[in-house]
Amino acid sequence: MRVAVVTGASSGIGAALCRALAGQGWHVVGLSRRPAPEAAEHEECDVADRASVEAAAARVLERHPRVDLLVNNAGVGMREGFLSGDLDHVERVLRTNYLGSVWTLRAFMPALGRGARVVNVVSVAGTIAVGPYSASKHAQLGFSRSIAAELASQGVDVLTVNPGFVETPGFPQRSRFNFLMGRLVVDPPFVADRIVAAIESGRREIVVPRWYRPLIWIQALAPGLVARVLGRF
Ligand SMILES: NC(=O)c1ccc[n+]([C@@H]2O[C@H](COP(=O)([O-])OP(=O)(O)OC[C@H]3O[C@@H](n4cnc5c(N)ncnc54)[C@H](OP(=O)(O)O)[C@@H]3O)[C@@H](O)[C@H]2O)c1
Repeated sequence: MRVAVVTGASSGIGAALCRALAGQGWHVVGLSRRPAPEAAEHEECDVADRASVEAAAARVLERHPRVDLLVNNAGVGMREGFLSGDLDHVERVLRTNYLGSVWTLRAFMPALGRGARVVNVVSVAGTIAVGPYSASKHAQLGFSRSIAAELASQGVDVLTVNPGFVETPGFPQRSRFNFLMGRLVVDPPFVADRIVAAIESGRREIVVPRWYRPLIWIQALAPGLVARVLGRF
């Protein structure tokens, strides 16, 4: 039985991923503060709280000493910028989206043997600079790429997933856009299927959908231009 642990399993991409993994024969343990009906087992866990993560991991490892797949997916959004946003919210976003991935990886390391995989659900926002949420995702992207190097010697592969706009309860995207832009938003099962396919084929980094890639290249090649254009909005 292949065991997967998925954080943020109660909603959106995480819930869809639990369903997709179960369909491929995985036994999925979901971690979240609310229940996760799509997972075979659930542990209550606040990933922004290191003690909560360590306690949840200890409970899971008692039942499953080997974990074949760890998915750091839990995350919260924030639309406000650095100048107007509530500072407690800035801190919560960083603790959940970045530190939550760090705490979770470290807590589950004893169960991740050779051949195991780690998946970090980051974001296209981790490559394009637009506010505190984006900054937290830049940090998580740096974490994901760093551990890909650190874990290589232990035979653990890392997959970084950068989704674009996805319609979920926590990120209601379609209501923000007009009809045409709304057509660019995808649904959680689309992302979940891409993640499962990338796990099976051994990919290291994916952008979902693929057509976001040129935006990432433009940010890397012309950061001044991107800041000027975003500043107009
Ligand atoms: N939707 C998008 O457009 C989009 C685009 C790119 C990347 N992403 C990323 O995809 C991931 C999933 O987001 P989603 O769109 O599926 O949003 P969602 O529907 O709001 O789901 C977020 C999940 O994260 C969990 N979570 C939040 N804070 C947590 C905490 N402190 N401790 C434990 N779990 C916590 C939630 O569970 P509980 O509330 O039950 O704890 C929930 O299961 C996030 O990392 C997000 O940044 C989303």
